[in-house]
Amino acid sequence: MLIQNAVNAAGQPIDVLCRTGKIAALGAGLAPLLLPGEETLDAAGRTVLPAFIDLHCHWRTPGYEYKEDLETGSRAAAAGGYTFVNLMPNTNPVMSDAAAAHALMEKVETIGLCGANQTVSITENFDGHTLDHLKTLPESVKYITEDGHGVQNAAVMAKAFAICHEKHITIMSHAEDSDISPWDYRLAEDIETVRNLYLSEYYQTRLHLCHVSTRGAIEAVAAAKYRGAPVTCEVTPHHLWFTKDTLDYRVNPPVREADDVAALVEGIRAGIVDAIATDHAPHSEEDKLKGAAGMVGLETAFGVCYTKLCRQEGLPLAALSALMSTNPAEILGLLGKGTLAPGADADLVLVDLAHPWRVDKNALHSKSHNCPYDGTTLYGKVRATIKGGKITYRAE
Ligand code: NCD
Ligand code: ZN
Ligand code: ZN
Ligand code: ZN
Repeated sequence: MLIQNAVNAAGQPIDVLCRTGKIAALGAGLAPLLLPGEETLDAAGRTVLPAFIDLHCHWRTPGYEYKEDLETGSRAAAAGGYTFVNLMPNTNPVMSDAAAAHALMEKVETIGLCGANQTVSITENFDGHTLDHLKTLPESVKYITEDGHGVQNAAVMAKAFAICHEKHITIMSHAEDSDISPWDYRLAEDIETVRNLYLSEYYQTRLHLCHVSTRGAIEAVAAAKYRGAPVTCEVTPHHLWFTKDTLDYRVNPPVREADDVAALVEGIRAGIVDAIATDHAPHSEEDKLKGAAGMVGLETAFGVCYTKLCRQEGLPLAALSALMSTNPAEILGLLGKGTLAPGADADLVLVDLAHPWRVDKNALHSKSHNCPYDGTTLYGKVRATIKGGKITYRAE
């Protein structure tokens, strides 16, 4: 397939020729290379970027398929411009073994709309102390996390870091001291962030901090990076967009103050923040009413980040593209993804940057509609997603 008449992140005219799932050629005016029978896709008015890769996503299989299942999750991802997601293990049962993780990834692969990595829990069944399963994890499992349940005991977490150093596993942490969060949700994040950063440096174990949301946490990450700790971090679109004065909505970590948002934006400019991840957390209306934390995010992530970071804060689109594609691919070790280059996977997204659009929670592809952006006007609309040279999503 030849994608014609697009522009790249720098606004220069570009065609992309995709063959056998890879990018075969890239440049202006590639029509002469077309072979008989090859399709064309007119991308006039669109910007082509490497497809997005989400480091942090909840699809709820197994156990909570009424909130999201692999099919609806895949469609939401494709509609958001994603071709790969990293799935969290807070399912029922909890993802604690490689066999279950592999079976799930294969099911996602069969659907064909979006690739996935399934992470495994740090402690067995999130019990907070058992690490035996880590010792027998096969080489194929490279990412473990306790999302939604920070490991509270420092000795347990220290042992996990020691094991993961030996096994070259990256720990993805939801840093929250749950004894502190009932009375100080800021201290709860900051103190566990500092602890986990210290352990990463002490054991030289790779740590990825999920959804960093406070100035204190981002400054701690900056200091650890300055000392050379093997640390990366993500921020979410909602922690960049909302403050507690603009949104009353349950999510973990909670939306913060304007000064925290400013710190996250500074962190992005300074290269302290490695990635933007959605923390796509679908919940039914009933579960939200009962207090479930989280919001869906796959289908609004690019629009929110383009509007906030590029249009309002003047961040170059190429920098946003690195945060949503290139850097997440590197963190997940996905060779050939997250880049526009000959020989790379033909995983692309076509976006419209010029026309405003209104978020409609009822038009989402996700099974859940817990979307506090409903009614918001954004710039940056995903018009088509291409995975392995095949169209996985197209808006009229
Ligand atoms: C997460 C979920 O729903 O899985 N919710 C959220 O607000 N981020 C769990 C969690 O991290 O608390
Ligand atoms: Zn979390
Ligand atoms: Zn918790
Ligand atoms: Zn999460």
